Amino acid sequence: MVAIYLWAVALFTIVGVASSVDPIHIPLKRTSRIYKSISRRAVAGSVQLYNAVQQGAYAIDLSIGTVGQNFTVILDTGSTELWVPGPNCPKTQCFGTLFNTQASSTYVATSDPISLVYGVGSDNGTYGRDTVTLGGYQVQNLSFGVISSAANSSVPVNGEPYLNGILGLAFPALTYAYKTHKAQYDPFIFALWKQNQIPQPIFSIYLGPRTAAGETGLVTFGGIDNTKYSGNLQYLQVQMETYPNITANYYHWNILLLGLAATVDGKQSSNFLGTSGETVALDTGTTLSYMPQDLVASMLKVIAPNAIYIQGIYVVDCNLASSTGTLDFAFGNATGNSSTTILRAPISSFVLPADSASIGTAQNCIWGIIPINIQELGTYLLGDTFLQSFYVVHDFENHTIGMASAPWTNLSSGSSVAVTTATGNNSGANSGNQSNSGSANLKSVTCLTFALVACVSLFLL
Ligand SMILES: *[C@@H]1O[C@H](CO)[C@@H](O)[C@H](O)[C@H]1NC(C)=O
Ligand SMILES: *[C@@H]1O[C@H](CO)[C@@H](O)[C@H](O)[C@H]1NC(C)=O
Ligand SMILES: *[C@@H]1O[C@H](CO)[C@@H](O)[C@H](O)[C@H]1NC(C)=O
Ligand SMILES: *[C@@H]1O[C@H](CO)[C@@H](O)[C@H](O)[C@H]1NC(C)=O
Ligand SMILES: *[C@@H]1O[C@H](CO)[C@@H](O)[C@H](O)[C@H]1NC(C)=O
Ligand SMILES: *[C@@H]1O[C@H](CO)[C@@H](O)[C@H](O)[C@H]1NC(C)=O
Ligand SMILES: *[C@@H]1O[C@H](CO)[C@@H](O)[C@H](O)[C@H]1NC(C)=O
Ligand SMILES: *[C@@H]1O[C@H](CO)[C@@H](O)[C@H](O)[C@H]1NC(C)=O
Ligand SMILES: *[C@@H]1O[C@H](CO)[C@@H](O)[C@H](O)[C@H]1NC(C)=O
Ligand SMILES: *[C@@H]1O[C@H](CO)[C@@H](O)[C@H](O)[C@H]1NC(C)=O
Ligand SMILES: *[C@@H]1O[C@H](CO)[C@@H](O)[C@H](O)[C@H]1NC(C)=O
Repeated sequence: MVAIYLWAVALFTIVGVASSVDPIHIPLKRTSRIYKSISRRAVAGSVQLYNAVQQGAYAIDLSIGTVGQNFTVILDTGSTELWVPGPNCPKTQCFGTLFNTQASSTYVATSDPISLVYGVGSDNGTYGRDTVTLGGYQVQNLSFGVISSAANSSVPVNGEPYLNGILGLAFPALTYAYKTHKAQYDPFIFALWKQNQIPQPIFSIYLGPRTAAGETGLVTFGGIDNTKYSGNLQYLQVQMETYPNITANYYHWNILLLGLAATVDGKQSSNFLGTSGETVALDTGTTLSYMPQDLVASMLKVIAPNAIYIQGIYVVDCNLASSTGTLDFAFGNATGNSSTTILRAPISSFVLPADSASIGTAQNCIWGIIPINIQELGTYLLGDTFLQSFYVVHDFENHTIGMASAPWTNLSSGSSVAVTTATGNNSGANSGNQSNSGSANLKSVTCLTFALVACVSLFLL
């Protein structure tokens, strides 16, 4: 417990003293990327994802402008916009390379403001437009945020690239321009499709195990890499969201969770979900997962009865990392033969070291699903602790999500394992389309980087 506390303080210190970080820090160079070469238009192509383990994030390289300026940014399915630090961002707030607008012959400035508020941190600036190159793809005239002030930016971490911006891959209605004055523009992935760069309006993500550092993940734009999953892809309908006075629309990659059970030693528990359904957002930009308090409490009663609740998180025995059990998620609104799809994730993949870099040396471990009250974050989230166990296909025209097990989990998915799903009796359940009356909803849900503690502490305030 003490260790957790000290660790928390250490992380806060890092964030707190960010302004004293050596301003001449140069981001570390990495080994060169292997890009599948893309010589024709409208072909699917795969781009490597970099797993920055210490920062709890998956990143991708891109370049902006002519001549291109390189940035390593967080790949975030929980937000929509691309942003990088602009020339006016003080060195005390933006710790990496700044985008030099003057040096790009294709840059178009605007005076339209952009303001991004994440689970932790915020960024303000203006929209600019320029050519963006990513893994052999080139998008012209892409609108993105040129940031001039930032709070709680990530700080450089030894041995990992500096995460110098975010590439959002959620829906257009979530952009600041649309939210504030209904100015619709095509975010990166949509522009890629409209500019005829990819053959299908989809992108697929393989994160790889959260603990496997380096270039272990892969994003395929416009296609599916059949080597990155086992079994069959199961397709689910993305849930629309409805907010007061705001048109029902697609904002996040939300799906419908109907039940959740654990299978330990071959025996499946009863359903932990106390309601008849909850909408959950899939978010690669969030390290942990955030689920209803009673759900997390009931699952731990079964799989880790000695878990201790402390400062908003559950501390579990690190031996849980050797569990061979699974968490069995039942999702609804599936488009296949059965309306429910069961996806199983190893219990071990939700166990994180709390006081050490690796599980092997940790004294205390954290359960990678944080219990929250939905008002705190606006939505329940399945972040990297969940997503690492799956291959996820995002179809942004048909609004579907295809999921199958990541081969490294040795699991398969489908409907063969049943999870009893509750019916009828519940209050506040979101059946089908989400209708949410909270106020802090229309924000990007990204909550990462030191997040573990930073987000949690926000919940405590
Ligand atoms: C930007 O990245 C590309 C692709 O990795 C590389 O070829 C190029 O040298 C980089 N440019 C700079 C200025 O580092
Ligand atoms: C670039 O995008 C802006 C805003 O979306 C649009 O007004 C403008 O016409 C576009 N320019 C070109 C050359 O396509
Ligand atoms: C950005 O703007 C928002 C909304 O006005 C504000 O709450 C936030 O503190 C600002 N952040 C920075 C870094 O200026
Ligand atoms: C984020 O930045 C604000 C303003 O600089 C600061 O007050 C706050 O403590 C920071 N939050 C965290 C979690 O570090
Ligand atoms: C929604 O619109 C109604 C009528 O225009 C207004 O009275 C109400 O305050 C609005 N609610 C919110 C949450 O903006
Ligand atoms: C689903 O339906 C298709 C087409 O009717 C059929 O070929 C397939 O075997 C079915 N799959 C299962 C798991 O029942
Ligand atoms: C999307 O739906 C259309 C019409 O139903 C269908 O023709 C198309 O194959 C679907 N796209 C994908 C990627 O499944
Ligand atoms: C999957 O199987 C391989 C080979 O048996 C084993 O090394 C690995 O630990 C297994 N992975 C999981 C998550 O159980
Ligand atoms: C509904 O659930 C509540 C709480 O779990 C329980 O007290 C109540 O008896 C249930 N009602 C019905 C009709 O099953
Ligand atoms: C969600 O709402 C949209 C628009 O009202 C509707 O077309 C769609 O069928 C609904 N989906 C579900 C799952 O109820
Ligand atoms: C989606 O799921 C909800 C809740 O189970 C159900 O009421 C609705 O009919 C489903 N919609 C479709 C199109 O399957």
